[in-house]
Amino acid sequence: ETTTESAYGDSDFVVVANRLPVDRDPAEESQGWRTSPGGLVTAVAPVMKSQEGAWIGWTGVPDVDFDPFTIDGMHLVPVTLTSEDVLRYYEGFSNATLWPLYHDVIVPPEFHRTWWDSYVQVNERFAAKVAEVAAEGATVWVHDYQLQLVPQLVRRMRPDLAIGFFNHIPFPPFELFAQLPWRDEILRGLLGADLVGFQRPADAANFRRAVRGRLNFTTKGSTVAVPAGDVLSAHTVRAEAFPISIDTPYLEELARDPKIIERARQIREEVGNPKVVMLGVDRMDYTKGIRHRLKAFGELLSEGKLDIEDIVLIQIATPSRERLEQYKIIRHDVELAVGRINGEQAEVGSIAVHYLHHSYPRDEMTAFFLASDVMLVTALRDGMNLVAKEYVACRGSDDGALVLSEFTGAADQLTGAVMVNPHDIGNLKAGILDAVQMDEKTRARRMKQMRKKVSTDTVSIWSKKFLAELEAIHTNPEAIIPD
Ligand code: ADP
Ligand code: G6P
Repeated sequence: ETTTESAYGDSDFVVVANRLPVDRDPAEESQGWRTSPGGLVTAVAPVMKSQEGAWIGWTGVPDVDFDPFTIDGMHLVPVTLTSEDVLRYYEGFSNATLWPLYHDVIVPPEFHRTWWDSYVQVNERFAAKVAEVAAEGATVWVHDYQLQLVPQLVRRMRPDLAIGFFNHIPFPPFELFAQLPWRDEILRGLLGADLVGFQRPADAANFRRAVRGRLNFTTKGSTVAVPAGDVLSAHTVRAEAFPISIDTPYLEELARDPKIIERARQIREEVGNPKVVMLGVDRMDYTKGIRHRLKAFGELLSEGKLDIEDIVLIQIATPSRERLEQYKIIRHDVELAVGRINGEQAEVGSIAVHYLHHSYPRDEMTAFFLASDVMLVTALRDGMNLVAKEYVACRGSDDGALVLSEFTGAADQLTGAVMVNPHDIGNLKAGILDAVQMDEKTRARRMKQMRKKVSTDTVSIWSKKFLAELEAIHTNPEAIIPD
């Protein structure tokens, strides 16, 4: 008897995301890898480390083919993007069309047909790689807005696979989504999955409304009935919320490390040991409300409500998507605002805003969290915002206060925060003052409640819940009881 080689790959679990968990460090001659930026990688990497499987994604380097490799126990399968793909699919359609459209059009999204064509091509390339790598009956988990066509493309080629999709960013209200010239294609792309996950119930509801409004499919509770079409057979899809979280045990452990505690003390000393250290940690992105935060802080200082002798703000902003016009503008505006505040308020030997345009290793980030009395998360719109959860996880002694925008996914869970509307500078100022002046007992009570939330709601539980539901739907779609 002869054995024919299977046409399928050998991975039973496949994660697909635009980025691999590591990218090339441009500063290093040694061709080293470093952690990729952003919340997706922070959240999904620990899941991958605890599970056998393959992660398909881009290395961050254009025009270079890399062979699959293993790092930190993760098996990585690179997909190549050309310089033109980077321009049209990544910077263009993903980050100048979808990103602003899905974040409440904070800046105007641009629609270009050449960008769409490139988005389709690159999604096809990712889907082909999945079809090649996945074993028969494997579970495939596709992540985020860059790859919304992949579920349908994969289902077409490999109906044997269990396909999950998770959207890390918001899904916009129908009235905004409907602007997109390729709205129906995107919806059909996502509906190739068995399970489509979103950060908040509101995002899932926006998606189901778009499906009803544009495609006329029926939905019952969170179940969408997809009728037989030209390319796919009839099936059901679940679309619901799975709020993502962080690797809490890992962060709690770092926050107890004497070396990191000592580094936190040093940081306070280096900024002049003020009574209050405030902290902002973001990718340099116009969705994060950094300008609004600086405006509020500057006004509080100039009105004498906060005293430069007592308080400093440390603003860390990771470089992000730097070739895009809107990212050049936000960086320029932030740097102008920092310069203005320091120019007007600071004195020799005391700076009001310490601005750091770098990325830091996890240990150093933890030391910054430990060193700060007040954390400012003032995003104008954010799918979740992991920084808010990370700050809370690090506050083992239940001190510190969190100022949190109500426009983040995290606001649903971190109800002990001082909630603010960052569009309302008056409200933002009041929130910052509240947090700074909050008495110790109230701080402790509120932080304890939030800490309990992030210690029971970890990213490991999140992934188990998502994958268990995906498995259940895929093995027995008929058994789904609409909620
Ligand atoms: P986003 O995914 O939009 O960037 P999140 O707040 O959800 O926003 O996730 C950001 C992640 O990146 C967090 O894990 C945060 O700790 C990390 N991070 C942000 N800024 C830096 C920085 N300057 N250096 C290192 N890590 C950073
Ligand atoms: C957010 C997105 C991710 C993205 C990350 C960093 O977290 O949800 O999909 O990877 O930002 O952005 P970048 O464009 O550098 O990948």
